[in-house]
Amino acid sequence: MTGLRGEGRSHVPVTWVGTSWKMTKTLAEARRYARRLADAWGDGTAMPGVQPFVIPSATAIAAVRSELGSSPVLVGAQDAHWEDAGAWTGEVSVPQVADAGAVMVEIGHSERREHFGETDERVNAKVLATLRHGLRPLVCVGETAAVRDEGGADAHVVRQVEAALRGVDDPSGVLVAYEPVWAIGSRGRPAGPEDIVGVVAAIRASAPGVAGVLYGGSVAQGNAAELLAVPGVDGVFVGRAAWSVEGLVEIAYLAGRSRQVPSP
Ligand code: 13P
Repeated sequence: MTGLRGEGRSHVPVTWVGTSWKMTKTLAEARRYARRLADAWGDGTAMPGVQPFVIPSATAIAAVRSELGSSPVLVGAQDAHWEDAGAWTGEVSVPQVADAGAVMVEIGHSERREHFGETDERVNAKVLATLRHGLRPLVCVGETAAVRDEGGADAHVVRQVEAALRGVDDPSGVLVAYEPVWAIGSRGRPAGPEDIVGVVAAIRASAPGVAGVLYGGSVAQGNAAELLAVPGVDGVFVGRAAWSVEGLVEIAYLAGRSRQVPSP
């Protein structure tokens, strides 16, 4: 995939380690985090092959981008509308988040699907809009506990992925984040490798051309390495455990180390 904003280098597989701050952080907190992350990460040569990203609230995208300066850390938006502009009170568009410095757009997080009526059709429209403007969609998919208990996790998630990618000619710019709903947040149950390996394989089989499949849902310093070791997992998408700079950097470090483990 070429032509995505902020990514001029030739394509080498990377391990993605990123966080959405969800609805947290004042501007001052966002700026401080970004400054400290830029210092901690440097030019990234200490952790080759790991691509960090941060997804703040829309209010902080420009400030975070600016504080990061020349840092290779990428900045994303937590959502964006499918239209470029217009009478859509309260919304932000892909051109607007791009203007603020975002190069990624998170789409279809389960919190948006559950609380804000995000449908597969809208997710698809947002994916198409994001690609149209040269940004990278990060499409979130995942099943509820009830769907898993009925044995329908693979089919449910594959359906979400296929719906998200409808009409996408070249999916090689798209990232998929598999985030089982039952594993997300403070009341979530952390998943083990055995819980996710089958769904990750199903995503890979249904969308072999995507740029990567990330895992998210209660990822923390204690379980990141085992989740990153699951075949087909190209990174982690972290909430709470990366809301501190130390948390993100520690998980990125684990990701860097897991890349260096030689295959048996
Ligand atoms: P937690 O890591 O806090 O469970 O959140 C995961 C998530 O939803 C990332 O998008």
